[in-house]
Amino acid sequence: MAGHLVLVGLMGAGKTSVGERCARVLGRGFVDTDDLVEATAHLSVAEIFDTLGEAQFRQLERAAVADVAASPDPLVIACGGGVVLDPDNRRALRNAGVVIWLQASPAELGERVAHQEARDGAARPLLRDGAVGTLERLALVRAPAYEAAAHEVVDTAGRSIDAVTDAVLAAYRALDAERA
Ligand code: S3P
Repeated sequence: MAGHLVLVGLMGAGKTSVGERCARVLGRGFVDTDDLVEATAHLSVAEIFDTLGEAQFRQLERAAVADVAASPDPLVIACGGGVVLDPDNRRALRNAGVVIWLQASPAELGERVAHQEARDGAARPLLRDGAVGTLERLALVRAPAYEAAAHEVVDTAGRSIDAVTDAVLAAYRALDAERA
């Protein structure tokens, strides 16, 4: 049976936009772990960080990942940038599907995040102290966790959302066939 298509990567990597398009092409449901956490807590991610703290957010996130990974229907899952830090999350996602790491330089991620936040309002509590510097630090610190989580890396540098979607789908199809 087909496994989930799981997208990981830093904030601004394009997990949601690319994931939604992949889900449309594959005719599957799309789930964003941040949305699941928000629905459970009845609070936005920013409100959870502010009122309950990051540790509580990570706990809610772990429950959301376990839930979605266990879905019997194959899904496209966009993971919040920090999901890969937890070894149980990595294991659950790798066992239940194909995990693809969307990579981009911190400068490019910073530009995309700024663009999204100008459009939708500030939503990323970890970037309040300045995006590019924080993204550079997170890229270094988290690289081993992304590497451990991912079956495949897709470089998004200078590529359109459609081009990244095509590359993700090609990687997913090849790797999912190997899993079967
Ligand atoms: C986070 C990434 C965010 C969200 C939260 C923490 C992180 O998700 O889960 O603000 O630790 O990298 P996106 O990667 O979807 O922005």
